[in-house]
Amino acid sequence: MRAQSHFARVRSASAVLVALLAAPAACGGRPTGAPTPVSPTAPAQAATDLRAPESFASITDRAERSRALFVEASRVLLSPRCANCHPSDDSPRQHDTRDLHDPPVTRGSDDRGVPAMRCASCHQDQNLEMARVPGAPGWRLAPKSMAWMGKSLGAICVQVKDPARNGGRSLDKIVEHAAHDPIVAWGWSPGHGRTPAPGDQARFGALVSAWVDTGAACPADDGNPNEVPR
Ligand code: HEC
Ligand code: HEC
Repeated sequence: MRAQSHFARVRSASAVLVALLAAPAACGGRPTGAPTPVSPTAPAQAATDLRAPESFASITDRAERSRALFVEASRVLLSPRCANCHPSDDSPRQHDTRDLHDPPVTRGSDDRGVPAMRCASCHQDQNLEMARVPGAPGWRLAPKSMAWMGKSLGAICVQVKDPARNGGRSLDKIVEHAAHDPIVAWGWSPGHGRTPAPGDQARFGALVSAWVDTGAACPADDGNPNEVPR
């Protein structure tokens, strides 16, 4: 059975976790899991560039500037590293191609998998490079109320602001989550050759903060389900 062989492979990989932790450079000299420190002032790479809040200063209309800041931040939200875990259905996605999770897993009643296939059976607190399993503390699917796949930017924006759907968060808590949450941080240290989210977490946090400071305005809901280019 495919699922079982995957599972077995991952379990044996867990067994070498201790060894990996003891010698982080053991696997081809690449550190395993430890987030790469990124200087907030480091220039972003061209292909993965994320504009800084200051580059929107020329937009004099406050609400228009706010919407532009959200659109820029949404390049992170809708990147595969983030959207793969914010699906509208019950299955996580994988890779830049957003394939259904292999082996098939579903969110179960607590977003952490069904009893026989718990996310944490495979996903640890950090990436397991040898088994190619990504990891971060509390690995689980985002609740359905926080789904982004197949929704317009405007709809996502309104939803992210809505405490009834965003986990009871104030706008300040949304900024904090964006800038400091360890699962969000994983998006820039995804391991095993995965494409990181654009920019870095500090810049993403600054964009979300600037969006809130300008009144957290949302783009119109044009009904266009957003799939950002890969
Ligand atoms: C492993 C799955 C996973 C990944 C990957 C992931 N998230 Fe989430 N996300 C969650 C979960 C779970 C929650 C709910 C947390 C809570 O309420 O405490 C969440 C909630 C959020 C929220 C809170 C508000 C809301 O309405 O959605 C934001 C913002 C967010 N994630 C941003 C991101 C960004 C940005 C990335 C990529 C850099 C990302 N997430 C990647 C699982 C994930
Ligand atoms: C049987 C082991 C196993 C279980 C159980 C499991 N996963 Fe995975 N998951 C993997 C492996 C292995 C990969 C990496 C696949 C690859 O990159 O080719 C992965 C990849 C992912 C990714 C893709 C990351 C990306 O952006 O490419 C997400 C998201 C994810 N899993 C979420 C979950 C969630 C949520 C659960 C629980 C509902 C879960 N997984 C349960 C083994 C598992």
